[in-house]
Amino acid sequence: MNLPDLKKAKERTKNKVEYKENPMVESNSFLGKKYFLRTYGCQMNEHDGEQIEAILEHLGMSPCDELETADVIVLNTCAIRENAHDKVFGYLGRIKHLKKERPEVLVCIGGCMSQEESVANELLKRHPYVNIVFGTHNIHELGSMLLEAKTGSQDIEVYSKEGEVYEHVPYKRASNITAWVNIIYGCDKFCTYCIVPYTRGKERSRKLEEIVKEVEELKEKGYQEVTLLGQNVNAYGHDLEENVEFSDLLEEVAKTGIPRIRFVTSHPWNFTEKMIEKIAKYDNIMPYIHLPLQSGSDRILKLMGRKYTKEEYLTLFKKMKEKIPNVAITTDIIVGFPGETEEDFLETLEVVNECKFDGAYTFIFSPREGTPAAKMKDDTPLEVKEERLQRLNEVINEYSKKANLKYVDKVVPVLILGVSEKDQNKVYGYTDTMKLVNVDASKETIGKIIDVKITDAKSFSLDGQETKKESVH
Ligand code: SAH
Ligand code: SF4
Ligand code: F3S
Repeated sequence: MNLPDLKKAKERTKNKVEYKENPMVESNSFLGKKYFLRTYGCQMNEHDGEQIEAILEHLGMSPCDELETADVIVLNTCAIRENAHDKVFGYLGRIKHLKKERPEVLVCIGGCMSQEESVANELLKRHPYVNIVFGTHNIHELGSMLLEAKTGSQDIEVYSKEGEVYEHVPYKRASNITAWVNIIYGCDKFCTYCIVPYTRGKERSRKLEEIVKEVEELKEKGYQEVTLLGQNVNAYGHDLEENVEFSDLLEEVAKTGIPRIRFVTSHPWNFTEKMIEKIAKYDNIMPYIHLPLQSGSDRILKLMGRKYTKEEYLTLFKKMKEKIPNVAITTDIIVGFPGETEEDFLETLEVVNECKFDGAYTFIFSPREGTPAAKMKDDTPLEVKEERLQRLNEVINEYSKKANLKYVDKVVPVLILGVSEKDQNKVYGYTDTMKLVNVDASKETIGKIIDVKITDAKSFSLDGQETKKESVH
């Protein structure tokens, strides 16, 4: 039994990062059994979900879509906001019921919620039917924990530590067209509202050559796109002995010739000119940047510990727009941070009006236990916060629609990913600028980058038609 410890999770030492070979349990003990996996949270968690699937399948299991038919249930959780918690605990109610009828089912909880002291304690005290709790630092131990698990017992193994870097991690990738590639784990920014530095450990970069090798292998397998993942991709390399930074990595990955390269998330602090230059220079680095603003008020930005001012954000934003042709920029914004006044909020709206973002994810501040902001005085009523969110969303949606309208009648390259959910006769994909397009084209285009003429624009998607090059007779 190892329970998480918030104080320990906060520690940052000068200790060197250890690079380790991912251990894999060899066993067929679960042959023929079914697993049910549900993942909540960010792209990084989705990618962890692909690792979890690889581990379960290595034990002989296959996936199922229904909770009721599963022998092993895994919830890969997120802790970013309270509603993420509510969803998981709501789901646990269903699982508790199921366990009464089928006590032999093994229930496992992993991901960022497991890393929280209060959650681990609650699982221990009130949810004894949960058999295995593992954290973000020991996903690779899930296999051995399952082999040792007993129906009526609970094992909690969660470590609050800075973390290591594991190489040659197996993944069961959800797509054979696009792939996620971790470049830097953890976060050292400690924005005052955010739980991630506590749940994911310190910033630790993978070695450049390992990342390039992984991208080369993906290219060899026919992948068209990789997304480089990190809570702060532009912090890449600062912890490495080698003198490399994100712009060097971008360049090396671009040189592999993989058709499309994306990256998330970029922190506005320390996003260098060199990085912008490389994005502009290589055609296979997509002109799309997710650049979270969080707030447009300097006073709130300071309270958030974001390390930049409104002016610095705007200068960076303009530089990106100027240097990277056709770049699309999206953002994240939090409303109702403790002490946010109407004036602060209006400053956020001002920045939105100036930047005219291609899109944004907007949130109401959610206090996370153990973070500094959770202890700040917050006397704005929830109704006021909700009203601000609504006002913000109206402006955001207007600009997304406007940004989309600019595409009408243009011909743009689209990587086709599959059959459209809305219309089975159509396919869907993304432009280089990350716009979702439903395309009138045959299913043979799936996995290819095709030219699409945009015929219509909605707030959150585009419609288009494949345009074939005129053949010469
Ligand atoms: N590393 C990324 C963010 C990851 S979390 C970055 O720094 O940009 C994704 C988004 O969730 C954040 O950008 C923020 O807008 C939001 N978020 C994080 N903690 C939150 C909290 N306590 N309450 C509300 N929103 C939060
Ligand atoms: Fe959270 Fe800030 Fe780190 Fe992003 S940069 S993960 S918001 S602490
Ligand atoms: Fe959630 Fe953890 Fe990602 S808290 S957003 S799953 S890093």
